[in-house]
Order: sequence, then C-alpha cells, then structure tokens
Amino acid sequence: MKILVIADVHSNWPALAAIEEPFDACLFVGDLVEYATDPVPCINWAQQHVTAGVRGNHDHAVAQRVTARDGGGFRRLAAATRPLHWDLIDQGRLKYLARLPVTQHVELGGQAFFLVHATPRDPMDEYLADDVDTWAERLQSVDADIVCVGHTHLPFHRQLGDKQLLNPGSVGQPRDGDSRASYAIVEDGVVHLRRVEYDIDATLGQMRAVGVEPWAVDLTGEVLRSGGNLSREQMGRFQ
Ligand SMILES: [Fe+2]
Repeated sequence: MKILVIADVHSNWPALAAIEEPFDACLFVGDLVEYATDPVPCINWAQQHVTAGVRGNHDHAVAQRVTARDGGGFRRLAAATRPLHWDLIDQGRLKYLARLPVTQHVELGGQAFFLVHATPRDPMDEYLADDVDTWAERLQSVDADIVCVGHTHLPFHRQLGDKQLLNPGSVGQPRDGDSRASYAIVEDGVVHLRRVEYDIDATLGQMRAVGVEPWAVDLTGEVLRSGGNLSREQMGRFQ
C-alpha cells in the first residue's frame, strides 16, 4: 500500500497539483491555507483525496475567523492574505477546515499512524524542529508505529525507539533551502521523502490576479524561490 503524506500546502495549488505520484491513501497533517491564495482547489483536492487529516494553526485561524495580529516576517505575510481567504472560501469549505480534528489515529496498510500538526503537547502551535530528545519526550504517551507531523516546514524522518517520526516537509512553502514541493510516501511501512518542482511563477501570478499587495507577492516570491532561506534582515526589508 502506497500512502502519500502531505503538510503545509498553504493555498499553493500549483505545488499541490505537481504531485502526480499515484497513491492508495493520503494523510494530511495540517495547514491547507494561507500564505498563497488559491485555497479552493486545495480544499477540493483534500475533500476528494485525504483519507485522514488534521487541522493546522492556519486552518484554525481561517475557519474561526481569528483576526490576524500584527507582527514581522511570516506572521505579517499570513495576515496579508487572511481576509482574502474569507472572501474566497464559502461556508461549506470553511466547515471542512473547522471540522478537521486536532489529532487523529488511523490504521492503514497494517501500520498505526498518529497525526498531529505541531506536537501532542500543543497540537497546533508548538514549534519543534529536528530535536530528537524533546520529540522522544513528547511522544512517550503516543501509541503508534508512525507519527506524522508538520508545522516547521522542514522535512525529516527519524526512528525514535519503536516509533518512526515523519515530517513530510511543506508542499507549498518549504523552508529547508530547497524550493521544490516536499512530501513523503510510506510504502509497506518504509518512508521515502520526495521533492517535485512546480511553477512558482504561476503561484505568484495567481496572487497578483486576486489582488494581493505587491510587497506580499514579492516577499512570497523570495520565500518560495529560496526555499524559505531568508535571513531576518531579508524578511525585514518587507516590513
Ligand atoms: Fe505551516
């Protein structure tokens, strides 16, 4: 059984559409929306293909109409496209985001999966990158063969005792210095991290077409082309 694992799509439809690998099931670990601005085809795709999925902090913010707070860098970028999401997403699709559970257990292909966007301690917000010791603590009470997470936009795969920890990286806004869309395939319990190129100009063109402010399109372009490899100073130029 071939299982596609995706996270952090962030309304980037050209990136999601570029994943053409066939799969039998799909696990989604949060953040379908914000940053880019083509949420509808991303939600449609998820409704059609996702076998089990969880809510990310950005899905929650859009679904619950959380007013974006001012901030720097990525926070400001999310704030710049949140109201547009409320114009673009109808009630039915908002409900799909709102109803995504915060954590989920699922059995697929003889493996027990546990899905959470950030960490079990703080399911939508704790930022925990590739810190194996802290992850081992966080997963102590989780009963699963493979734990799938997202949130950091950094792909990684580790064996932690009897569990595998998998972050498939970000489909729509990678931050590991590689601009290609990131995802994972789990085939018969074996994890493969994968990348695929997509048309970044198409993503930016769609943002312009729906009226995103030029500074936000420019910043998104720099983030996407560098694979998120922007210094604080570079991010600051857009503030
Ligand atoms: Fe994200």
